[in-house]
Amino acid sequence: MQVPVIAVGCMRMKGLAPAEAERFVQTALGAGAVFFDHADVYGSGTCEEIFANAIHMNAAVRETVILQSKCGIRPGIAFDFSKSHILASVDGSLRRLKTDYLDVLLLHRPDALVEPEEVAEAFNELHASGKVRHFGVSNQTPMQIQLLQKYVKQPIVANQLQLSITNATMITRGLHVNMLDETAVDRDGGVLDFCRLHGITVQPWSPFQYGFFEGVFLGSPKYPALNAKIDELAEKYGVSNTTIVIAWLLRHPANMQPVTGTMNPQRLIDCAKAADIRLTREEWYALLLAAGNTLP
Ligand SMILES: NC(=O)c1ccc[n+]([C@@H]2O[C@H](COP(=O)([O-])OP(=O)(O)OC[C@H]3O[C@@H](n4cnc5c(N)ncnc54)[C@H](OP(=O)(O)O)[C@@H]3O)[C@@H](O)[C@H]2O)c1
Repeated sequence: MQVPVIAVGCMRMKGLAPAEAERFVQTALGAGAVFFDHADVYGSGTCEEIFANAIHMNAAVRETVILQSKCGIRPGIAFDFSKSHILASVDGSLRRLKTDYLDVLLLHRPDALVEPEEVAEAFNELHASGKVRHFGVSNQTPMQIQLLQKYVKQPIVANQLQLSITNATMITRGLHVNMLDETAVDRDGGVLDFCRLHGITVQPWSPFQYGFFEGVFLGSPKYPALNAKIDELAEKYGVSNTTIVIAWLLRHPANMQPVTGTMNPQRLIDCAKAADIRLTREEWYALLLAAGNTLP
């Protein structure tokens, strides 16, 4: 499947008025950003509905976009990869998105009680009925993926993971191999190399946030050196600071597909522009270090 370089995250669509949502979605389409990332839980389902209304979903419109949604989080309960929950969740997303198929379905967060045989049954039914064309995961380690893949016969095409310049442990750990410092701690089982090895697309979520949704590092007084470097590169390339942030992710040779979260049409255009820029090796490392990351 050929996909655009960025995925347009729809988690924050809940706050948009219908006209704003329509303008946002049309801007995305105009910028070639036709891949939309959803989840059954975003806005308790309202984000999928707002999106479908904003794009005036019908059969012809459906063919022009790529729709990804997620299941497996049950607010107030926990995580649920049971067959019945997966099937019910997909039916809910299809109804709200006003479509009869998802291009990609991701399992949202690992379920400690996962029974991979059941997941395999659910995926087989969804695939055979045409309701889901491709399958992936989110926030999963290599071992969790391998456990699934022992039973699931469809390939896992994507792993959506938290990754930004300021939250780059999956990259920096690989630089601090076998050292005694904190960065050397293996927090993800080598997920980045695993995904590259198996042709699984890494989809970095929250590319502008530091911490766990603590805030945006652009313009933050917590990151003066990083912002100075980003601004310098933005001036050099004649783009906005937003574009440089996404260009940093795209410069990594893993062919990542960042999932943006902005609901601001101009910022979305700026994110999409990152495809036209290739940072040098020196610039990529300078940004990594300016964010406070270290090299051995
Ligand atoms: N798989 C998972 O577990 C998981 C978890 C979280 C998110 N996601 C997905 O990832 C997507 C992105 O997450 P996110 O929204 O946290 O990502 P993000 O792009 O890092 O953050 C977007 C937020 O930052 C704000 N922002 C402020 N200045 C900005 C700038 N210069 N450029 C861009 N944004 C700026 C945006 O406000 P404005 O709207 O005003 O620009 C928006 O509120 C979500 O929509 C969802 O699809 C997945």
